[in-house]
Amino acid sequence: MQDLFLRACRREAVERMPVWYMRQAGRYQPEYRRIRERHTLLDICRNPALCAEVTRLPVEQLGVDAAILFSDIMVPVGAMGASFEIREGVGPVVAQPIRTAADVAQLRPLDPDRDVPYVLEAVERLASTLEVPLIGFAGAPFTLASYLVEGRPSRDYLQVKRLMWADPEAWRALMEVLSDMVVTYLTAQVRAGCSAVQVFDSWVGALSVIDYDQYVFPYMQYIFSRLRPLNVPLIYFGVTTGELLPRMAETGATVIGLDWRVRIRDARARTGDRTALQGNLDPALLVAPWSQVEAHARRIIEEGSEAPGFIFNLGHGVIPEADPETLKRLTAFVHDYSEHYLASRRRGVQQ
Ligand code: CP3
Repeated sequence: MQDLFLRACRREAVERMPVWYMRQAGRYQPEYRRIRERHTLLDICRNPALCAEVTRLPVEQLGVDAAILFSDIMVPVGAMGASFEIREGVGPVVAQPIRTAADVAQLRPLDPDRDVPYVLEAVERLASTLEVPLIGFAGAPFTLASYLVEGRPSRDYLQVKRLMWADPEAWRALMEVLSDMVVTYLTAQVRAGCSAVQVFDSWVGALSVIDYDQYVFPYMQYIFSRLRPLNVPLIYFGVTTGELLPRMAETGATVIGLDWRVRIRDARARTGDRTALQGNLDPALLVAPWSQVEAHARRIIEEGSEAPGFIFNLGHGVIPEADPETLKRLTAFVHDYSEHYLASRRRGVQQ
């Protein structure tokens, strides 16, 4: 198996920069849209053959260096007893939002073999056939709580913050049951064949550093300390996390995912030399002129190469408006330009 991605995660030297994209499978692909005409998103997640097909497609089309399991962060919480649907153009909508300690107590722990066997079967099929590493994933407790408590995508996170401040015991119980789920679920994914895992804390940037430290950090530290013995890269990603980066780097994650707002050089100063970095091209550039895509990608490659341990990605998921040809061209550009750039840096160092 090609291990460029894993080597970069471990901050080992690479001859070219690995690249993959969050949401590399999705509506921007005509093939995905065709499958979605006959199957819902959750149908795909629950059908190992379809899930494997959708996961594999962007790897073959784009030439990326890693696959990410096709699923959704809500899949395991559905199996824990929170009934939800995914509404097109909206996102997850939960039937009965969690607002009290009694609501939290209704959530059962996850038993992956019993509750999500289709996920593990998809991982097994993919791991034995893919030529690149397979990344498993889970939502982080805060981001999952934001859907479970708000009941739907939110702008201001008023309900989730209200619960956090108003009922610290209920909050703690919710974070604990979700943290244990993340540990159990990701451990099962790694045992089934995933070579790395990413924890999506997409909305945690809504918190101040003070609140992050008190209400989120201990659970993230618990999660990564429990995952550490699996000996696979542990990627931790969120959006608008510029101010949180120093703390995120102390959770025990081994790779930090960056959104596009932060400069790589500044992110590295904030995370120190504890972690590898991943990111961070603005996904909106996928509808910009190629000259702009190239200029932005070049700067990311150059700053990313200033220290070992960089994985090229977007700063958030691929947008449905993206042209598949642009992503293909971007992948080739990252490979070609980084190969030349890294070789010239090595020559520069030797002289
Ligand atoms: O990256 C990949 O290729 C794997 C696929 C993946 C999906 N969801 C499939 C999906 C991943 C990694 C996720 C995680 C996820 N789900 C996150 C964290 C990552 C992020 O984007 O911040 C979040 C916040 C969710 C919740 C969710 N699910 C949202 C906000 C939406 C979008 C709703 C919409 O219609 O715009 C979904 C639906 C969803 N999950 C889609 C895909 C490809 C949209 C396409 C569809 O409905 O078929």
